[in-house]
Amino acid sequence: MTHAPASASRPLTVGRPAAPLSGVIRVPGDKSISHRALMFAALARGETTIYHLLEGEDVLRTAAAMRALGAQVEQRGEVWVVSGPGVGQLSEPDDVLDMGNSGTAARLLSGILASHGIASVMTGDASLRRRPMKRVTDPLAATGATFIAREGGRLPLAIRGQANPPALDYRLPVASAQVKSAVLLAGLNATGTTRVEEPVPTRDHTENMLRYFGATVEVESTPEGGRIIRLEGRPDLVAPDGGLFVPADPSSAAFPLVAALLVPGSAITLTDVGLNPLRTGLFTTLMEMGAQVDVVEKASSGGELVGDLHVRASTLQGVEVPAARAPSMIDEYPVLAVAAAHAHGVSRFCGLEELRVKESDRLSATVAMLRENGVRAEIEGDDLVVYGTGGAIPGGGLVTTHMDHRLAMSASVMGLVAKQPVRIDDTAFIDTSFPGYLALMNQLGAGFAQ
Ligand code: S3P
Repeated sequence: MTHAPASASRPLTVGRPAAPLSGVIRVPGDKSISHRALMFAALARGETTIYHLLEGEDVLRTAAAMRALGAQVEQRGEVWVVSGPGVGQLSEPDDVLDMGNSGTAARLLSGILASHGIASVMTGDASLRRRPMKRVTDPLAATGATFIAREGGRLPLAIRGQANPPALDYRLPVASAQVKSAVLLAGLNATGTTRVEEPVPTRDHTENMLRYFGATVEVESTPEGGRIIRLEGRPDLVAPDGGLFVPADPSSAAFPLVAALLVPGSAITLTDVGLNPLRTGLFTTLMEMGAQVDVVEKASSGGELVGDLHVRASTLQGVEVPAARAPSMIDEYPVLAVAAAHAHGVSRFCGLEELRVKESDRLSATVAMLRENGVRAEIEGDDLVVYGTGGAIPGGGLVTTHMDHRLAMSASVMGLVAKQPVRIDDTAFIDTSFPGYLALMNQLGAGFAQ
């Protein structure tokens, strides 16, 4: 029997669906929260049951890495059960840790590895091996850990960790939740209080979940609009009674949400979506554009707000998105660009420099996706300007996804409303964050060929 190589590409051509999109779906669990759930459960006492863990390839890499570091990580039917060696107790992995496509896994794990007295080597796929790691190794070097990386601080990366790291005090030079989290995670095994200052608030899942596991985390707002986070070192992390529920990922919900707004006559409901205010910039922006979205908040779970989104097809207008909102919707710009391309009028998204260092250079790749399909788009400094077609995206182009799941899904949404079908070179990477995407969209009536 022959097997297709794991890296076999899966091209897709997407045209307009036969009927409006309709139905009720729950998109998979939040990727950011899923990585953290596995890592923190491995650093806690007792057995943590995790519900709705994202079983995407990125998160499965974190599961494998935590196992290699001595944690027990088991899938038991619908739930995942993790019991760990605990903070300071990780064992040295006996092989290279392969983080696949996942920047979050690599950056967060660096903080854990730097603060344990073990040696390790991390690598990743071609996309991850191009991404900057100096942003985490620079602050983590102050623990006394040593790092050997390739030119420009890129993976593969060898780490000789520090068994008794000092607490760090660091001001983030970039708005990055991954860098903030790497420093905080190093602080778990430090004596004393770790302090991180961020100039703009970024997603605070690390802070919320560490508290949920019993750590003392204090957050103070600065007069300039930033935040200071203080974590007390060597906390007694304990598996939470009742386990941990992972909300549906708002960054994944973005794709059916925008599709339903754009395909005429559609009406869908997305359930249990994470509504952490530091993640909902896209929802705010779409509503400013005229989107009809009713948000029904439910109880919070694991320190995170959750709710249902009722979405109806809407006529959208162009919008200007301020730079300060970028961290709360950083992964959503490619699909927002599709919404802006379909809208009436011009849109400007400000301050997108961080998009250049995602799974691909998302700023260039998003512009290329639009232009290839007949939409005018420009990069002006760090801003993206999209000229709306008023519901008349020409389409007919071939989108190159550069190993980037979110570009593939954004292009598929564009295909649902373009005049001519949109071709996508490869949809295989969608599995990193949204396994079952094509099937779930087909449940709504997208009519994707599989
Ligand atoms: C993430 C933070 C963001 C985001 C990524 C997930 C996280 O990256 O783009 O998908 O889970 O902390 P940056 O911290 O690099 O902005």
